[in-house]
Amino acid sequence: MSRKIHIFDTTLRDGEQSPGFSMSQGQKLRVARALADLKVDIIEAGFPAASPGDFNAVQAIASEIQGPVIAALCRTIPSDIERTILALEPAQKSRIHTFIATSPIHRREKLNMSREQVLRHAVNGVKMAAEACTDVEFSAEDGIRTEREYLADILQAVIEAGATTVNIPDTVGYSTPSEMYDLFRWLNKTVPGIENVRVSTHCHDDLGLAVANSLAAVEGGATQIECALNGIGERAGNCALEEVVMALRTRADHYDIEIGIETERLMAASHLLAAVTGNFVPRNKAIVGENAFAHEAGIHQHGMLASRDTYEIMKPEDVGLKGSQLILGKHSGRHAVVDRAKHMGYDLEEGEVEAIMERFKALADVKKRVFDSDLEAIITGYETGTIGPWSLNWLSVVSAVNGETEPSASLTLAHEDGTTSTHTGDGDGPVDAMVEALELVTETKIKVLSLAMRSISLGEDAQGEASMRATVDGVEYSGHGLSTDIVAACAAALLEIINRATRSAAQIKQSDAA
Ligand code: KIV
Ligand code: ZN
Repeated sequence: MSRKIHIFDTTLRDGEQSPGFSMSQGQKLRVARALADLKVDIIEAGFPAASPGDFNAVQAIASEIQGPVIAALCRTIPSDIERTILALEPAQKSRIHTFIATSPIHRREKLNMSREQVLRHAVNGVKMAAEACTDVEFSAEDGIRTEREYLADILQAVIEAGATTVNIPDTVGYSTPSEMYDLFRWLNKTVPGIENVRVSTHCHDDLGLAVANSLAAVEGGATQIECALNGIGERAGNCALEEVVMALRTRADHYDIEIGIETERLMAASHLLAAVTGNFVPRNKAIVGENAFAHEAGIHQHGMLASRDTYEIMKPEDVGLKGSQLILGKHSGRHAVVDRAKHMGYDLEEGEVEAIMERFKALADVKKRVFDSDLEAIITGYETGTIGPWSLNWLSVVSAVNGETEPSASLTLAHEDGTTSTHTGDGDGPVDAMVEALELVTETKIKVLSLAMRSISLGEDAQGEASMRATVDGVEYSGHGLSTDIVAACAAALLEIINRATRSAAQIKQSDAA
């Protein structure tokens, strides 16, 4: 009989904590819903002791998401564990994931603790967690660079203290597949009691080996893989969920493993995460990149026409890729849109349908043909522009190449308090000019750090997507905008950034007053 491997997703914890991938609570909830639809076994929702925002997001996910186990991370210190117990309280199924670094370099340089002290912390943390929760995971941070015998002792001790999963992370992405295989086999043979718990791998991608190392750990006896959508995570990222899952599925003949993932939902989940965080997936990315199933070279096309198997080892449909279709128009109603979205892998929540319909109707009015990719853009970006006090009433932009005039932008913003404000800015180009006009309206200092634009649907009136990072009064935010006019998409991205900044400034004021 095939071995069952649990898929533990850490997109919302290890992924979200890395630079450029932070998400609001609403965005985390949307990603958590997509992960539940994918049928991952465990969702690591965050690190409750890290900040009040993280605590609230874990609590919200624990309250709403049913199906997967909801896990949250904490150090082995009592105050961290208490916060985690509280945040996970509403969950139907919860897991406390506690960790401490075990390698010599971390013990010496970071913790300033002896081996015995680290072991004592690990055991006490696991005992405390196990009193509150029947599902406890222990991670030996930097486990790969820990002395083997000592690692075995710690794992044995935490299993005796109540851990039900033990995780041996390659925290710094240093290991190689043969080392991983050997270590997991050795631990499985050596540690008393390990046969009664789940054994987990958590690999980082610093040398581009995270997926290969995770698969090698599975061959060595691991029964849980920790991974993240699009491979996001600290530094070079974590093992990419879509890659490791499709490797196990496509090479079932080799691995003989059972996993419960609905792979047809991979593309939708990956696109959602990219849109929410404003980070495009590279074209050539395995499984979910735009080119992953494209065949350009004549010789390849010839082979594909003769038989798909000549160059295709997976069916595009297996990962949720369907040819872009002409679908709906301005007469299409709510039922048709919800039904089409479901077919594309998006189960829309009652509360979001209205906002999506509003955008769909507006788009159908200006766009002659509406494709699946347009609908997907609306669904993944529907939060844009709806998160703060400012909205754009009017915009006029002048661009200039070798001309007499300077690039300039005039705009009117409406505030939720009922006032409007109009200003004109100029600059090196239209985006620079828009930034100046927005600074004047909102009385802030904005510095654009990066701007990426692309076309995301079909036809001469295709939608353009702008993804931007900028600082507002020195604090970094990301924004995302969609429009059939790419300059308007940039304005929407900038406005999202300003709205986020205004909202978080208001939150800081509120908590200072409390
Ligand atoms: O990389 C790592 O070691 C981690 C642990 C906290 C699980 O993320
Ligand atoms: Zn990690």
